[in-house]
Formats: sequence, structure tokens, C-alpha cells
Amino acid sequence: MTPYADTAARIPEPNDRTGTAVMNAKEDVIPPLVPPLTHVIYRAEEIQTAVTALAVEILAGTPYDGDLVLLVVLEGARRFGNDLLAAMAALPQAAGRKMRLATVGVSSYGHALQSSGKVDILAAPSEALEDRDVVIIDDILDQGFTMRCLLEYCAERRPASLKSCVLFDKRDIRRDFRPDYVGLEVPPVFVVGYGLDYQENFRNLPYLAALDAASTVRGTSADAQALPR
Ligand code: IMP
Ligand code: MG
Repeated sequence: MTPYADTAARIPEPNDRTGTAVMNAKEDVIPPLVPPLTHVIYRAEEIQTAVTALAVEILAGTPYDGDLVLLVVLEGARRFGNDLLAAMAALPQAAGRKMRLATVGVSSYGHALQSSGKVDILAAPSEALEDRDVVIIDDILDQGFTMRCLLEYCAERRPASLKSCVLFDKRDIRRDFRPDYVGLEVPPVFVVGYGLDYQENFRNLPYLAALDAASTVRGTSADAQALPR
């Protein structure tokens, strides 16, 4: 699926301060966006459709009888992981299969807009991975540092099988790595919502929105506290 090329057409004033909710072509309501959010990239229903498609793909791609562990990368992928497991459990092909969530903590962007390239494991996986069918679940792939580091780290724990899944993939970023499962492509800009944050803000948005880096450059964490959540 490609991102909304026509977003600008649906939202006449990107930083609409009028307080008027925007009705888009499919008749669902996108609340007015305020800076530093500039436009919606994927609506909530599009994200849910992608999550369900990933649920089908992952179930089809893992052995039938093993213990399937979705290893959720905290904090950004928590919401995605919960929705993904729920979508998998709702499928008829999930009947009789053992699957559950586990978590792992890694150092993230912190308060920056770009990765430092250094990834540290801050919290070990919440359960043993040995002999499990493990799928690493992250929110977004940018340079690929986080996923590559986690694949290496998990492989050392001798899982029965190991795969990688991201909901969003920043297209146009040159890298020689591709996860096993990808939900939706996004432009190479900073995005927030559906679990993804900027300075811990915006995680609760049900949609994915682009964030204008220029209007956050001067921003301090005190400014961020004042942003809509
Ligand atoms: P990578 O290691 O460069 O691939 O970056 C992936 C990690 O950085 C993800 O787990 C996210 O936590 C974070 N990240 C990358 N891009 C964004 C973004 O646009 N918004 C929010 N977090 C991001
Ligand atoms: Mg992350």
C-alpha cells in the first residue's frame, strides 16, 4: 500500500487551526491537526487493515506446532504488538496455536529526530527464546540499526526460528536489509502516532502523522509537554 498522495487535497490547510474536523473521501473524521503535525499519512482504518494482513502473513509463515513468540520492541511497538496478537487470535487459522507476546527494551532515538546508530539492549527479553518461533515486532524501520542488532542478539539465544516484522518502513532509505514482514511504506520523514512518539508525545494518536522537524528544532522538552497528546 502506498501512503496518501492526496492528503493535501483532503486537508486544504495542513495546519488547520479553525477547529473544524476534516471529512475525507471515505467519510471518516480526521481531527484538525495542529503544529508540529503537518498531515496524516495513514488513517486508523488503513493501519488496522495492514495489521490484519500482517497477522495472516505471519501465521502462514511460521511452523504450525511450535510456541510462537511475538517479541515486541518497547515502547513504540507496544500498541502494534497488542493489535497484531488480537488480529492473529481472531483468525480461524490460529485455532489451536500457541502464541503470546514478550517484550524487549532497546535504546531508542531518545529526544532526537535521528538515530545515533548505537543500539543498546536496555531490558532483556521478558522470556527465554530458546526453541521458540520468534518474530521480532518493531514499529518502524529507518536505518535498520535496531532490527539488525536485535536479530543478532536473538539469534544467540537459539530460537527454533527467527523473523522480523515492522509495521512501517521508511521507503527511500538506502540499506541492504529488508525485514521478513512489512506493513506499510512511509516517506522518509519523522512520523508519530499509533505508538510512535516524539519526546514521548503523540503515541496515543490512532493515525500516523508527519511531524515538521523545523518547528521542533527550537523545541525543548518543556515545549513538548505543552503539545497535544
Ligand atoms: P533504525 O534503528 O534507524 O532502523 O530506527 C528504528 C527505531 O527508531 C524505531 O524502533 C523507532 O523507535 C525509532 N524511529 C525511527 N524513525 C522514527 C520516526 O519517524 N518516528 C518515531 N520513531 C522513529
Ligand atoms: Mg523503537
